[in-house]
Amino acid sequence: MSNVTVIGTQWGDEGKGKIVDWLSIRADLVARFQGGHNAGHTIVLNKKVFKLSLLPSGIIRKKTSIIGNGVVIDPWALISEIKKIEKQGLKITPKLLRISNKASLILPYHQKLDELRENSKGNNKIGTTGRGIGPAYEDKVGRRSIRICDLYNKESRKIQLNAAINHHNIIMKGLNKKLIKPANINKILNKIAPTLKPYIDNTMNLVLSANKAGKNILFEGAQGTMLDIDHGTYPYVTSSNTVASQAATGSGIGPSLIHYVLGITKAYTTRVGNGPFPTEQNNKTGELLGKIGHEFGVVTGRKRRCGWFDAVMVNYSIKLSGVNGIALTKLDVLDSFKNIKICVGYKINNKIIKSVPDNCVDMDKIKPVYEIIKGWEEDTQNCKKISELPLNAKKYIKKIEKLIECPVSMISTSPEREDTILVQDPFK
Ligand code: GDP
Ligand code: IMO
Ligand code: MG
Repeated sequence: MSNVTVIGTQWGDEGKGKIVDWLSIRADLVARFQGGHNAGHTIVLNKKVFKLSLLPSGIIRKKTSIIGNGVVIDPWALISEIKKIEKQGLKITPKLLRISNKASLILPYHQKLDELRENSKGNNKIGTTGRGIGPAYEDKVGRRSIRICDLYNKESRKIQLNAAINHHNIIMKGLNKKLIKPANINKILNKIAPTLKPYIDNTMNLVLSANKAGKNILFEGAQGTMLDIDHGTYPYVTSSNTVASQAATGSGIGPSLIHYVLGITKAYTTRVGNGPFPTEQNNKTGELLGKIGHEFGVVTGRKRRCGWFDAVMVNYSIKLSGVNGIALTKLDVLDSFKNIKICVGYKINNKIIKSVPDNCVDMDKIKPVYEIIKGWEEDTQNCKKISELPLNAKKYIKKIEKLIECPVSMISTSPEREDTILVQDPFK
């Protein structure tokens, strides 16, 4: 029996969905523990593409899938995602999908506020996904969320809705916008509640009983460490904790049940949205990485910013989550490069540092210190064992392992499920 927690070690889109899908053959239960439909995970099966946002990636293998209490749920987005996946031939039954009764809801006013805030920020826009994630998490810590359980309890819904409306209408009034009418919110909630009802559960108990029965649990994180609300490039972050310890809080278990932490790590770096990005290549190299890697956001379709691998940053992420091993993804994207750069240090005001600065003003001043590695200039896509990789690719991997102080457990060489090399099984 063992549990594995998957997190992203960069700015998201590392290929978590592909790895969770691959690993979930070994899991009995897959649980999402934070974020919302700002996430976009791609799974490719014999060229058939599944794009998931809220549904855990284990669902493609028909593993019991849990949306934990730490997730913020837009019920309409969830229903439309279920419909979309069902159109692709996978029935999302209540047996397959269980949703926490404690998860907070994203309501239309959260999305509106996300948009209004972004529009008022001018050059300092975060570049959010516009899904209302930030305002929904604010309501959660502000103790005025309407949670899934409030859909089915008139009394608690009334109290929460009053608290939420009082807060939001002060803002709407200040912004000269139309006030929110509680009756309208109640109406849409009453309409959606019965559709969701069959899926709702005490998911904490589900996870705990699975664990007690010796089942393997896979905890699936969204976003990436550098988007973490505490440890990321604040304020250019998302509004939840994306580090591994959140798997415990976000699914209602103790941290001792997180046995192995797998950090999903792209062989280079990408970022969607604004904020510092020390190794960004605003040039032909960046264009090429984006073109070969098809770097477009799943949720908003935005072009991802691209740059070289940042070992200082990934080393920091590894420590923050106690990562036991990484899955190195998109190695194939580097196949055609003659030379590959790795950032091994940061230069700020002519001083070399090997740690991530605590604020964005300093991060923006970073001049990366690079080491140049010779490329392999060979196709890696069909390699099924590490021994089949070109020598220079193996050297690149070794170099990364040394710099980030963490072993590589898996390697991914294409979007397809089967193009995956297992070095050390996270479940063993
Ligand atoms: P996630 O948000 O971490 O799940 O990642 P996304 O799905 O948003 O982005 C990763 C993208 O890279 C998707 O289009 C995947 O299909 C693709 N991908 C994943 N692993 C590999 C890989 O090893 N090689 C290549 N070329 N593409 C990959
Ligand atoms: P996955 O799970 C990449 C980014 C947004 C923006 C910032 C805040 O697919 O890796 P938000 O809407 O969360 O308030 O936006 O976070 N962002 C992501 N970037 N991958 C994601 O998820 C992301 N989820 C949010 O682009 O910069
Ligand atoms: Mg993504």
